[in-house]
Amino acid sequence: MEADGGCRHGLVSLTVGGPAEQKELTQTPLLKIWVPWMGSSLNRRRGSSVPQFTNSPTMIVMVGLPARGKTYISKKLTRYLNWIGVPTRVFNVGQYRREAVQTYKNFEFFRADNEEAMAIRKACAAAALKDVAAYFTKEQGQVAVFFVESMCDDPDIIAENIQQVKLGSPDYVDRDTEEAMRDFIQRIKCYEATYVPIDDERDRKLSYIKIFNVGSRYLVNRVQDHIQSRIVYYLMNIHVTPRSIYLSRHGESELNLLGRIGGDSGLSPRGQRYAKALAGFIEGQNISNLKVWTSHMKRTIQTAEALGVQYEQWKALNEIDAGVCEELTYEEIQENFPEEFALRDQDKYRYRYPKGESYEDMVHRLEPVIMELERQENVLVVCHQAVMRCLLAYFLNKPAGDLPYLRCPLHTVLKLTPVAYGCKVETFFLNIEAVNTHRERPTNVDISRKPEDALQTVPDHI
Ligand code: F6P
Repeated sequence: MEADGGCRHGLVSLTVGGPAEQKELTQTPLLKIWVPWMGSSLNRRRGSSVPQFTNSPTMIVMVGLPARGKTYISKKLTRYLNWIGVPTRVFNVGQYRREAVQTYKNFEFFRADNEEAMAIRKACAAAALKDVAAYFTKEQGQVAVFFVESMCDDPDIIAENIQQVKLGSPDYVDRDTEEAMRDFIQRIKCYEATYVPIDDERDRKLSYIKIFNVGSRYLVNRVQDHIQSRIVYYLMNIHVTPRSIYLSRHGESELNLLGRIGGDSGLSPRGQRYAKALAGFIEGQNISNLKVWTSHMKRTIQTAEALGVQYEQWKALNEIDAGVCEELTYEEIQENFPEEFALRDQDKYRYRYPKGESYEDMVHRLEPVIMELERQENVLVVCHQAVMRCLLAYFLNKPAGDLPYLRCPLHTVLKLTPVAYGCKVETFFLNIEAVNTHRERPTNVDISRKPEDALQTVPDHI
């Protein structure tokens, strides 16, 4: 994605100890202006309606004492920004320190009066900043700086954070848990001695969000542009309550059986059996307060009906609109629109069907769904192949190039459970046969390829 351009966003995860460092960060030299991308050639050809981000590049600086969730927030925010098409990279100063020092002994390293260690730590922060500047060098113009400060004074939350992620950090490999816990608490104390939080009065000219006790309260100051407001909106919607998200496609449809894409057909007899099996599976999971969402299409509604519970219909969850290719088989697309078929194979993420959509378009239409999924707890989403790929790519942090080829077979439930910095995936095939609808990228994607090459990977159907 970066090859196409795109406004780069650096995310620096570092603990800002005082006003001096904050000043240094806000005085990052002005970098040259570089006009952000205006859509890929494929989208331009069809007149892109995908919003492009024309802000200046943003450096997001994570601020906070250790065990305040900075890594969690930065990883999650990066995943979100990359998914919505804003190329973002994390520069983690802790990682620079680990590379510089190799072996971590104990908290003494972080004492403010440890001059030798302090010199290393400053050098690491400087090296990270240098790399950030290099990352931005293609850009011309001002780099906006946005601070995200995570504050927490609830000892239970801090202890939980240390337990869940810090003890698993490379600093504590093969260490006794109790000893590691004690060391980490001492380490926090070292930081507390010099830590200066963002000051609402002194730093009133800075752009920032302060998050208190994992989102129980927020303070937002001077949001300067579209990207910053999206960051704020996202951070105000996420939560850390344990839950699972279940993703399933509808049961096999009549058009699936025929190998025809799109349309609005009902379920095949096997699809109806899957709907019943799904009801049994969901019951067996004993999920509290489960929300069920479907698209506006018959096949997802019929699948959800079998569950016998209330469900909500989202138009945004409808399957990709294949435009002039709706209800055709892949063979018929090749026969009638061979050039389009090849162009799609060349860049499946960005390719937009004539009078239809691209995967990139879908990601934009699914953004409100993702935001609401972030707000909710247990949810079952009954959706479609292309939609499920987009949602899955967000949760599993898959790049745009891989997204249109993620495997989402029929009659299979994916259970996604957030863990530490990622997502655990469990796959449940409910033992009801279904057609395969997954077409791999063929080896030959040339416009002048022979039909047999274009059809090399089309799955079997009636
Ligand atoms: O074939 C089932 C289906 O859901 C179609 O309705 C849709 O066009 C297609 O899958 C999306 O998959 P792909 O992008 O791989 O063609």
